[in-house]
Amino acid sequence: MTLYDNHARSMTLTVVVDNLINIFLPSQGPFTYPQPGRHSSLLGEQGLSLWIEATDAQDRTTRVLYDFGRGEYVVRNNMKLLDIDPATADYMVLSHGHVDHYGGMLRLLDENPISAPLVAHPMAFGTRGIKRADGELAGPWVLERQKVEEALAVTPIVSNEPQNLAPGLFTSGSIAHTSPLDRPFKAAVRQEDDAWVADEFQDDQAIFVNLQGRGVVVMTGCCHAGLFNTLARSQELFPGAPLYALVGGLHWNFLGEKDLDEVIEALAAYNPQWVLATHCTGALAIHKLRVKFGERCPFNTVGLRCNW
Ligand SMILES: [Fe+2]
Ligand SMILES: [Fe+2]
Repeated sequence: MTLYDNHARSMTLTVVVDNLINIFLPSQGPFTYPQPGRHSSLLGEQGLSLWIEATDAQDRTTRVLYDFGRGEYVVRNNMKLLDIDPATADYMVLSHGHVDHYGGMLRLLDENPISAPLVAHPMAFGTRGIKRADGELAGPWVLERQKVEEALAVTPIVSNEPQNLAPGLFTSGSIAHTSPLDRPFKAAVRQEDDAWVADEFQDDQAIFVNLQGRGVVVMTGCCHAGLFNTLARSQELFPGAPLYALVGGLHWNFLGEKDLDEVIEALAAYNPQWVLATHCTGALAIHKLRVKFGERCPFNTVGLRCNW
């Protein structure tokens, strides 16, 4: 299936929840940064949430909330301060079943009349944890499908297939894990039949927006499926389309200098116009991406708006 002729004309992306908040960055080019004043009350947390508005050739805009942050308060606080009304969402998409991505969902649904379907992978539900270096288990964190379905106003789209949400706007569906460049996150575990097993992250999903004349904007949650596996999925859906922008958590915080240099070189081979590294990418990785890509790697913060 080739979907390359399916385009959006433009998009706006707003970082609603992220680990970092900075109200003193200068706006420039397509990037508008939050300003001192009202935006001084924006909050960062260990989590991610993106607000995506994609406009098609007929001037129709589709709004997607991609993930919900970790806590009950931050996503609601930040949406209010950024003048985003959650009730205007056409879709909600869950990147994967980690609490720093779904944690703010149920309270947000409880307080707002959101009639948008939730798109999630069937494996996103269940019990997850993280094996810490000291041998202790962090978690367990449980995402119950029944609880989520009860909270939603409409039936969710629970599928491992890509979903075409609007012209040029797709979820990735299941991503095959094949690239040797992608290192597994070995500390992650999930519960199966009352036993903790290695988490293979079959649920990890990206969002793609294919921008007319420019290429694909690839957005990731934690990118546990692996960046190069995710880019390969984008190429399956949009063969030959350039990578216009990469946005999201890359989970490169456990990579050393040598591995980081290798993956950043491999990413540079895609020649992206923009790399916006957020959330779990890691301080050293973000530093090295900035060195490699210069101003094509803008600084990230809660409240950043990208107009593409
Ligand atoms: Fe995660
Ligand atoms: Fe995460």
